[in-house]
Amino acid sequence: MKIIGTCVDRVDAIEKVTGRAHYAADYQPQGLLTALALRSVWARGYIRSFDTKAALELAGVHAVFTHLDAKALGWKSSREIDALGAEGLGRASLADAASKLPAYRPLTSPEIFFAGQWIAIVVAETLEQARAALALIKVDVETFEQEQSLPVRPGPFFAGDMQHQHDCAVETGAEAYRFSGEYETPMQLHQPMEPSATTAVWNADAVTLYDSTQGVGATRAYVASSLDLPEDKVRVVSPYVGGGFGAKNQIWPHQALAAHMARTLGKPVRLQLTRNDMAVASGYRSETKQKIDLVADADGRLILLRHQSTVPTSLRGGFFEPCGLNSLMLYKAGRVEVSHHVQRRAVATPTPFRAPGETPGSFALETALDELAHEMRMDPLELRMRNFAEKDHYHGRAWSSNQLPDCYRQGAARFGWPGGHLAPGSMKREGLAVGYGMATTAYPAPALPASVRLYLRRGEGILVETSATDIGTGMRTILLQTVAEELGIDPEHIRVSLGDSSLTDAPTAGRSKSTASLLPAALMGCRKLKAELDRLDPRANSATNLPGILERFANSKHDELEVIGHSLGMPDGSAMREPLSFYSFGAHFVEVEVDQSIGRIRVRRMVSAFDCGRIVNPKLAESQVAGGMIFGIGMALMEHGIRHPESLRVVSDNLADYAVPVHADIPQIDVIFVQKPDMSFNELGVRGLGEIGLPGTSAAIGNAVFNATGRRFRSLPMGIVA
Ligand code: MOS
Repeated sequence: MKIIGTCVDRVDAIEKVTGRAHYAADYQPQGLLTALALRSVWARGYIRSFDTKAALELAGVHAVFTHLDAKALGWKSSREIDALGAEGLGRASLADAASKLPAYRPLTSPEIFFAGQWIAIVVAETLEQARAALALIKVDVETFEQEQSLPVRPGPFFAGDMQHQHDCAVETGAEAYRFSGEYETPMQLHQPMEPSATTAVWNADAVTLYDSTQGVGATRAYVASSLDLPEDKVRVVSPYVGGGFGAKNQIWPHQALAAHMARTLGKPVRLQLTRNDMAVASGYRSETKQKIDLVADADGRLILLRHQSTVPTSLRGGFFEPCGLNSLMLYKAGRVEVSHHVQRRAVATPTPFRAPGETPGSFALETALDELAHEMRMDPLELRMRNFAEKDHYHGRAWSSNQLPDCYRQGAARFGWPGGHLAPGSMKREGLAVGYGMATTAYPAPALPASVRLYLRRGEGILVETSATDIGTGMRTILLQTVAEELGIDPEHIRVSLGDSSLTDAPTAGRSKSTASLLPAALMGCRKLKAELDRLDPRANSATNLPGILERFANSKHDELEVIGHSLGMPDGSAMREPLSFYSFGAHFVEVEVDQSIGRIRVRRMVSAFDCGRIVNPKLAESQVAGGMIFGIGMALMEHGIRHPESLRVVSDNLADYAVPVHADIPQIDVIFVQKPDMSFNELGVRGLGEIGLPGTSAAIGNAVFNATGRRFRSLPMGIVA
């Protein structure tokens, strides 16, 4: 291969850094109005009345919408939307689990279910007018007691309180070691660089949404059902997305609300979430409490691995953080037990947040394994290798390709992992305590059906189109590479157009599935194009690529040629396809320095080795997984979403109070890709790698801090080491 596997520059880099790329809130249609929401300060309550007179009298204010206007807006409650069923939600929702998770729809009843719930929306000519009007709205609320914990009705994504137990009947010796640990991770907020935003513009009976979303197809389906419109009357455009992390994976009320308000007012409306809104109106990662029990024989082989999680969800919503998913299959153990106890609370609906479940789950599991290794005076890397699962015991399937042992070996070699038992507090450098830690990461490799259209027009090179979004991962670039490779043409003759629901279907960019869904479709499109040229011009043989595709087309009598390539993905969008189980794997190795005089932890080095199949673009892939590892540094040392214990308000709902790493916090990051193509997954052997960088990172950092100081952190962020 000549182009796949090389470091082609990100094709949209120049547009992005020069500001030419237009994001959802950059569109300025004629007569645009700005909407801003009033958030409830009460966690539970009942709105008796509003006084909006003063707000409405303010210059530039066009409307104040509350639940009393639901009928006028044509705005349905979640229950009414649910009643439409799968068909009502459109075909995109059938394929994409994320879109089956509509959040609670505010402005549908006088009841308040969480602090931060939108209870009124002002629409004005300027943001300043809208903000001033919000301050003038008076609300009379009867407050309720907050329920501590309610039973969970099974939801559509992860069904309620789940229990899994299974026996692998792995041969082990007698019980020799036993370890139990309890772990906690805090609420985390997405806060991507670009907050969620929708600009809704009506033209006669059709609406266009300039939106910041991970999936234009799912958004279109949901907004169309909300508006009672056929899908072809709704167009969702999202060519550039300034980060998603899961906040833009699920569908949130602002997208449809913008369209409803614009229809009612007869003017374009923009609804951009503020930083404060981003903490409550587009999901977050919930806090978790986890307990791990490990029992091992004298050789460190696991007899029991038990992972119990207690996690909250909202009063109206179904998602919870599925912490135990990786524990089901990542290691070989005689017996594996995983359970999730889900509690309903008066909080905003949580949502997927970059490797949901795997991320907090791996903090608990990978810390516990380190604790067990320490008790056994064993190398923690050796402990993991002894419990390597040579197949997916949980699903009872062979791995499609599992190069985890190579990740361990290559990562350890590059890092200079010492091996043996490394006593805590044994390394010092210039007065600082130095420590080494490691952890495993894994993430499923699913795929969904996708379509890519290739379009040749006389004198214009080739246009590659699909509705897939590029949320910063590099989808545009790797599609271009795939087409350039297969057709043997120079990338400069290829343009890629993405993120528009009027283009061919593609899944939402989430759950690390886009690469394996889209690239096989592009490949098939190229094959079809070559076959079509052969049919039109049988004299030249496409196998030789001589003359080139573009020359052959130029010599033909045709002005344009169009084909669509399809991929099938997995039957249900899972990471399973008979008879195999598809996962990506990796191993993190971390060095920290701890200044014990002031309690400061600094990550000094990270070496991580990943098995994600064939790597299409090492530069972009490295950037993606390093981004995940940096998330892990934030999770380990800084990020802390704080909810007031009584009022249940999110008090860290802004970037001043929610700390994230800055450039100076980031050490040398060394990424290794094992690069074994997963040929039973697809013809290119590629897997997604959107999320795999993050799981395990915070545990590896914590394990290194323990190694440096002997201090074990079982809750995050670690803060200072006294
Ligand atoms: Mo990602 S958390 O699967 O959008």
